Amino acid sequence: MNDPAHLAAIHASAFDTPWDAAAIRALLDMPGAELEHEAEGFLLWRRAADEAEIVTLAVSPEARRQGLGGRLLDRTLGRARDQGVARVFLEVAHDNDSALALYASRGFEKAGRRPAYYARADGARADALILALNLC
Ligand SMILES: CC(C)(COP(=O)(O)OP(=O)(O)OC[C@H]1O[C@@H](n2cnc3c(N)ncnc32)[C@H](O)[C@@H]1OP(=O)(O)O)[C@@H](O)C(=O)NCCC(=O)NCCS
Repeated sequence: MNDPAHLAAIHASAFDTPWDAAAIRALLDMPGAELEHEAEGFLLWRRAADEAEIVTLAVSPEARRQGLGGRLLDRTLGRARDQGVARVFLEVAHDNDSALALYASRGFEKAGRRPAYYARADGARADALILALNLC
């Protein structure tokens, strides 16, 4: 289930600009990288001192709205708290309503904006919002 090729297939089903298995493997090898996963979804995050970054969260389309994304996020936040992480950051497209609703439900708040950060499949650009959550 944590095979990079399997994770890359889930990622490709969830994002316009998919990461291939080699890219996923490189991310997993980063210092501080951690993975939460189930068969239909995964969350990759990275800890550095007392901060953590959610690198990506992806759930297969057919498995959505069944609690998996929330479960992966809750497990990550629990593990981060156990490891002494004080603040968690992530970037999300400004118009990604499902992800924004998920993160807001766990208390994440807007901490910044990166204009035209994401490239869409149709060539359009989308702003990224930086969200943050204090764990202590
Ligand atoms: C965002 C994503 C990970 C959510 O995964 P999921 O398994 O569907 O999430 P959950 O079922 O745990 O939903 C948890 C909460 O998020 C919110 N939410 C999730 N999808 C939503 C949607 N389509 N519309 C509105 N709210 C939504 C709701 O508050 C939901 O709680 P509820 O079902 O009790 O109302 C999934 O939609 C996905 O992979 N999207 C594409 C990739 C992506 O955008 N990743 C995040 C980028 S940082």
